[in-house]
Amino acid sequence: MIPGLSRLVDAMQRWGAKASIEVNHGGIHVSPRFLNGKAPLGPSKLPLSVLGPTTGEDTTKEVDIHVMDQALIDQTIERYVNAVVRCQRAGFEMVSIHGAHGHLPAQFASTFHQQEDRPLRRQYGNRARFAVELLTAIRRKVGNKMALEYRISGDEIVDGGLHVAETIEFIKMIEDKIDLIHISAGIIGNPQCDAALGGRSPYMPPMYNVERAAQIKKAIKIPVAVVGAYQDLDMAKVLFPKAKLIFA
Ligand SMILES: Cc1cc2nc3c(=O)[nH]c(=O)nc-3n(C[C@H](O)[C@H](O)[C@H](O)COP(=O)(O)O)c2cc1C
Repeated sequence: MIPGLSRLVDAMQRWGAKASIEVNHGGIHVSPRFLNGKAPLGPSKLPLSVLGPTTGEDTTKEVDIHVMDQALIDQTIERYVNAVVRCQRAGFEMVSIHGAHGHLPAQFASTFHQQEDRPLRRQYGNRARFAVELLTAIRRKVGNKMALEYRISGDEIVDGGLHVAETIEFIKMIEDKIDLIHISAGIIGNPQCDAALGGRSPYMPPMYNVERAAQIKKAIKIPVAVVGAYQDLDMAKVLFPKAKLIFA
């Protein structure tokens, strides 16, 4: 992947842009279609009614989840680190770890995903532990040679999910390992979340994450980025008159 990624970096840096890339692991939300029929892995099994069908899946069929044990957690963290190193070798100056929208780090952190009371749950009781270990391992590898962003759902929107107050507690446990926290919202493909947010992105209320981001910014030390339904530059300017606007 490195040659193609580095061509992308060249194309961005040529115009003076900083190059950042998102590293994501979908965990239990990944369709077996993309895994050569293997079961998606994650911290705990979830009933289909909670999990929500992955796109195009037969909704009547229970999704088999490969529940991670300690060895698989360690291997997965190592693979994240290797992915970040490949991005660094391709020339990216920043990496964004996807911990939002119910992806793997969020599956460990979120009460919505951690419904089963299992041995690993007791060992990994601290739901922030996976993200803390992951970000510690990445930071140890790249040092301050790369900016490290963490994308998080400021509110998961769903019943039983993480809401702002707990998200703030979670961020406080990782903020010494990252340079920027990026506020998004919700859980991907979750019917309750889609209904609450009025369907998919194009129909979201303008700036629907800003209140949450402002609350979070007051409670933490590191810079805060926020995404979501900025309809034009003026809207962003109104919000952040002093901010240097970066177009993603
Ligand atoms: C087609 C599509 C694909 C997306 N893929 C990702 C993704 O891979 N990773 C991610 O963090 N967000 C993804 N998002 C969410 C966007 O990054 C962004 O959070 C969302 O679109 C809200 O911002 P907007 O209102 O400016 O579009 C995707 C959104 C859309 C519409």
